Amino acid sequence: MPFKKGDRVLLVDEKGKKFMLDLGERETLHTHHGIVDLTEIEGKEPGFVAVTHMNREFSVLEPTLVDYLQKMKKLPQTIQLKDACQIIAHTGLSNGKRVVEAGVGSGALTLFLATAVAPDGHVTSYEIRDDFANLAQKNLDGYGVTNYTIRRQDIYDGIEEHDIDLVALDLPEPHRVTAHAHEALKHGGHLFSFSPTIEQVTRLYDSLDRDLWVEVTTIECITREYEVKRTGTRPKTLMLGHTGYLSFARKK
Ligand SMILES: C[S@@+](CC[C@H](N)C(=O)[O-])C[C@H]1O[C@@H](n2cnc3c(N)ncnc32)[C@H](O)[C@@H]1O
Repeated sequence: MPFKKGDRVLLVDEKGKKFMLDLGERETLHTHHGIVDLTEIEGKEPGFVAVTHMNREFSVLEPTLVDYLQKMKKLPQTIQLKDACQIIAHTGLSNGKRVVEAGVGSGALTLFLATAVAPDGHVTSYEIRDDFANLAQKNLDGYGVTNYTIRRQDIYDGIEEHDIDLVALDLPEPHRVTAHAHEALKHGGHLFSFSPTIEQVTRLYDSLDRDLWVEVTTIECITREYEVKRTGTRPKTLMLGHTGYLSFARKK
């Protein structure tokens, strides 16, 4: 499909630097490699190569969810791609599933969850801070996600939803939510908790009665990117270190 006014596009330069913008919001993009005439992108197919006045090339592509996440405004720490993949695969999220999440933060995990369960599934996200709820709403609406609700409520006080497939937690005291999660989940439904420290994991485990929960497990996901060159291939010097522990359990 050719690009039209209002479409969001991704411009990638020869070194992989990315620029994301909506067509029609301005006519030119000024970069270190020269000026891109954005008006010539309308009517062109993804893969079009725009050439700057300095004769440098920019590939014009449709942005993915991850491109959008990299560029959107963030306030609290967001879930990283490597961890989001584990959550979606481990809990078998797919179209139609119903998810409760807390807190929404900048909305990064919500975006992964909402797109995984779209179009028929839904994500309800609890958040206690208005500034984060407002930012997340802006980020989610900006991506065009509609299958979500933000509840400006404290999840430690309870979960209103029932027959839920996944309760996903990214907050300081997940152990205070396990009883509410058990009530809200279907039998076989998943509890997930993201915890930066092992002490949070230990407290979570203490709160999980093994008569009520099965498949209790915790993993850490470490990824390493490689620099591949004819002259020598090796792991990149800098890598993302620890983000958090990923704990899972299923309601019996
Ligand atoms: C680390 S952030 C979540 C980031 C989010 N997962 C993302 O990927 O963008 C933690 C959030 O939990 C919220 N929070 C903390 N305690 C809460 C509670 N009891 N109920 C609801 N939200 C809570 C915080 O206000 C904050 O927005």
